[in-house]
Formats: sequence, structure tokens, C-alpha cells
Amino acid sequence: MTPEQIEANKSRFIELCHEYIQRDGVDRLLNYLEQKTDFYTAPSSASYHLNEEGGLCKHSINVFETAMVIKQHIVVPAINNAEAPFSEAPTDESIAIASLFHDLCKTKFYHKAERWKKDSTGHWVSYPGYEIKDDFPFGHGEKSCLMLNQFISLHADELLAIRWHMGMFEMTEQGSGTRMAYRQAMEKSPLVALLQTADMISANIREKTTVWE
Ligand SMILES: [Fe+2]
Ligand SMILES: [Fe+2]
Repeated sequence: MTPEQIEANKSRFIELCHEYIQRDGVDRLLNYLEQKTDFYTAPSSASYHLNEEGGLCKHSINVFETAMVIKQHIVVPAINNAEAPFSEAPTDESIAIASLFHDLCKTKFYHKAERWKKDSTGHWVSYPGYEIKDDFPFGHGEKSCLMLNQFISLHADELLAIRWHMGMFEMTEQGSGTRMAYRQAMEKSPLVALLQTADMISANIREKTTVWE
């Protein structure tokens, strides 16, 4: 991503926050992101989707846009046709909060580092990658919820959606309490499945991985 693209994504992110989120504390949260974190320049992952500078902000925007399309074309029609086990679609504000900040735990998390791999001839070569240092290993969705809730008061469905957004990726064995809680969370609000799906589509269909040769 070029510095211009990173800057444009940052402006777009802030614009979306102002347009869709009216809750108290959002300006304090944006100040915190700007002044105390690497949110706008951090990668989205170390080795997978958008593992490049500016990836985290771009991914967060992608998840929001994807979630809004799914809401309009799938969630709302299913509710209107009385096919859904829910009577109300998540509000745009809840979708914005859950999508734009679901990966807040990834701020100050990836650190630039020289990484090594074997090239096609079997020789070790270095490349500019990232290493992970987590100063508060509290769990992925859990940490995002905790950080976010220090600035804005989250609703129950937003907490559940962010907490469980990794879906089956962090499941333990069948029959465990974790699986049951995850299942029950999805029954509580359509936002839970919506965020997971938008995250998955963004990470795997809308975003590339940089591979160093
Ligand atoms: Fe995540
Ligand atoms: Fe994500």
C-alpha cells in the first residue's frame, strides 16, 4: 500500500466513524487510535490477509462495507419475509462499531522484523516481515471488547459479535462449554453471524497476502 493509500484509508475510516457512530466516546477513541496506537499503519496479519502497512485499517473498512451489503441483501429480506429467527436487523451503528473495531486487539501487536525463509534453490533469504508481541494476551475478540469498552459503552449484541468473531477458528472439542456459548451467542443476535461472515469474506476474498520470493 502506498503512503497515499494509507492516508486515504485513514480519512475514510474516520469519515465512516463520524457518519455511522453517534455514541459517546467515539471521538476519544479516535484520538486514542491516532495518538497512542499504530492502528492506521499496522498490518492486518503477519503472514495472511493484508500483511502489509495499512492493512488493519483497510481490513476494518472492508469488513464494514461487506457487512452492510449482507445486511441489505440477506439479513433485511430474511427478516421481512419472516424467514429469520430474528425480528430486527442490527442497526447501522452497531454494524459500524462491531466491524470497524473488531480487530482493535491487533494494534501495537505486529512489529516489523527481519524474517527468514528458504528460496527456490534452498538458500536462506531474509525478507521484511512482522513478529508478534502481545503486551496483554487476553484473547483475540475478548481483548478488542475490553479495549473498545474503555471508550464507548457497548451493547450486548456488539460485545457478543466481537467476542465470537473468529467463529470456529478458536473452537475447542465438541460438546465443550465454549462451543455451547458460541452457538448461543449466534442465537442471540444476527450481528454475531453477520460480523463473522463479513470478516471471513473480507479476509479471504477481498484481501491479498504479500508473498516474499
Ligand atoms: Fe479478528
Ligand atoms: Fe478481522
